[in-house]
Amino acid sequence: MIREFHHIDLRDRNSFGVAQHARRLVEFETADDLRAIFAAGVPDRWTVLSGGNNILFTQDYDGVLLTPVARGIELLADEGDEVRLRVEAGVEWDDLVAWAVERGLWGIENLSLIPGKAGAAPVQNIGAYGCEASDAIRRVEMFCVGTGNRLTLDAAHCAFGYRESVFKHELRGKVVITAIEIALHRTPRPRLGYGDVEREVEARGGATLRNIREAICAIRRAKLPDPKVLGNAGSFFKNPVVEQAVADRLRAEFPDMPLYPAAGQADRAKLAAGWLIDRAGMKGYREGSVGVHERQALVLVNFGGATGGEVLVLARKVQQRVRERFGVEIDTEVNIL
Ligand code: EPU
Repeated sequence: MIREFHHIDLRDRNSFGVAQHARRLVEFETADDLRAIFAAGVPDRWTVLSGGNNILFTQDYDGVLLTPVARGIELLADEGDEVRLRVEAGVEWDDLVAWAVERGLWGIENLSLIPGKAGAAPVQNIGAYGCEASDAIRRVEMFCVGTGNRLTLDAAHCAFGYRESVFKHELRGKVVITAIEIALHRTPRPRLGYGDVEREVEARGGATLRNIREAICAIRRAKLPDPKVLGNAGSFFKNPVVEQAVADRLRAEFPDMPLYPAAGQADRAKLAAGWLIDRAGMKGYREGSVGVHERQALVLVNFGGATGGEVLVLARKVQQRVRERFGVEIDTEVNIL
């Protein structure tokens, strides 16, 4: 079913809570809905607005926003250890995690409490606490705007990387994701290696699915602001991947600087943008209605009534300070419109 809105206030549809308007917004469920929406021709400007958790509107959107609202979770196969699910794009990601944990299915518990919808998970390959959506995603279903056909892409062709996928590049503006297919497992496979996870899990009595979910939720709640209370889009910046020589130079100067291997890139290393921003003196920095979160420097917040433009000005300032202090570029992870 399609629901259509005109000149709609987006304040409640973006987690930054900025009050821009869109010319038109259409909620859809299926590929057939999308075919009907595009039947009259492809509009000059359109994009998907899913949960609005990774987007910053800096102006009114003079185009069409498409919002998935289908919330079905379908069991495709249940054989031995592996359980396959088809999850429609409008399912809240954390509802999916809760659903899996309740049924004793392992694989996405470390991704508890990540705001956003399932259809957006493959786009930026959401990740946290040593796990990424791509660990579970097997296929992605989409509607191809150019041809009007449905397409299914195997994970091997999704070019998943750290906060990366084909949907941010070659397929950007060409497809609308309608569902994902994920594989979960009945055999326990706890991943506790990241930061405080193991300690928090042990404090709850050991590595059960429920304890891991609770531990991850507690860690996130302690560090990350709740967008319902304080407008934000999670990490505003990506952790930068730099040449090993740059990492070595910085490590020599700052021995306590966190440094991680860059997956699949032997001559490069990943730095912690939060640490760089923190040490550049910007953690907790506030400018009017916007600021750098006091407990996690990767997160920019709207204290109330801020415009997207104000957030962007702050973001540029943070990038500049990090550049001046460390000679490192930090890219935005949030989609800026
Ligand atoms: N750090 C600081 N100061 C800060 C923030 C971090 O010194 O203000 C240091 C920490 O002490 C730690 C290192 O930086 O040594 C890394 O920090 P943390 O483990 O908190 O993770 P992160 O790299 O800051 C990433 C993701 C988060 C995810 C966490 C946990 C990115 C851009 N962010 O943050 O994802 O929850 O790891 O896995 O990769 C998101 O994408 O919205 C998000 C919140």
